[in-house]
Amino acid sequence: MATVRLDQKARALVRAIPDSYHSALANFFGSGPKDIDLARYQHSEYKTALEAAGIEVVMLEADHNHPDCLFVEDQAVIIDGHVLLPVPGHPSRVKEQPPIADFLVSQMGGAQICRMSGDARMDGGDILRLGDIFFVGRSTRTNDLGIEELRDLLSHLGHELRVIDIPKHALHLTSIASTPTDSIILAPEGYLPKDAFGELPEGCEVIWMPEDETYGCNTIGLPGGKVLIAKGYPTVNKTLSELGLETIALDFSEIRAADGSLTCCSLFY
Ligand code: GLY
Repeated sequence: MATVRLDQKARALVRAIPDSYHSALANFFGSGPKDIDLARYQHSEYKTALEAAGIEVVMLEADHNHPDCLFVEDQAVIIDGHVLLPVPGHPSRVKEQPPIADFLVSQMGGAQICRMSGDARMDGGDILRLGDIFFVGRSTRTNDLGIEELRDLLSHLGHELRVIDIPKHALHLTSIASTPTDSIILAPEGYLPKDAFGELPEGCEVIWMPEDETYGCNTIGLPGGKVLIAKGYPTVNKTLSELGLETIALDFSEIRAADGSLTCCSLFY
């Protein structure tokens, strides 16, 4: 989940892979999942890696009518204990949300819950946080009305929002960028202009990776200097290791096959 700081990562929600997973949307990194058993194995390794890093993980049941239901990141935006429930940007994904919303309401006593409505659209995967600055991708899934609702919530919480146009050959902002620590943005060459993230606070930087490691730019920073990365992206691994981080590489090939990245599969709450 890209909207929480490292010190806010104690509990995570994940969702099991449905029997219909072979029908998941796949138009960017992937050409469609082929091996559901392998996907389930890779997903269980992901859960284990989060738990090994000290995160308490709850797995929601799969919804077999919704092939993309494992990608929980898109269904809620959690900011400092408040929850924005977006209207997901792809119609086939809208009905994945109710059990996730119910779970969060039951677990986050006292949280302010805002529901997006009307023509506003947003996938949680379009949001990235670096300290108190938030970035939102204007994408095929997230529109200007959705961005304005997010801006309202963030201004109420005293946070800044910067908008980034996502090129047509990428799904979400988090498909091409992540924050492995609270002071680093990892992003690939060739997708965004060099000034896309604007001026960053002192001590923060964007580290640009080669374009052929785009998928590897999605990472999950964890407490204790650990970071989950996708297996097979050597520059990402070397760069983060040289920064003193302990990288934990996961084979995510059958999740990638449905355009899913590491952050897509969890919500920290
Ligand atoms: N397969 C993930 C998505 O397109 O939303």
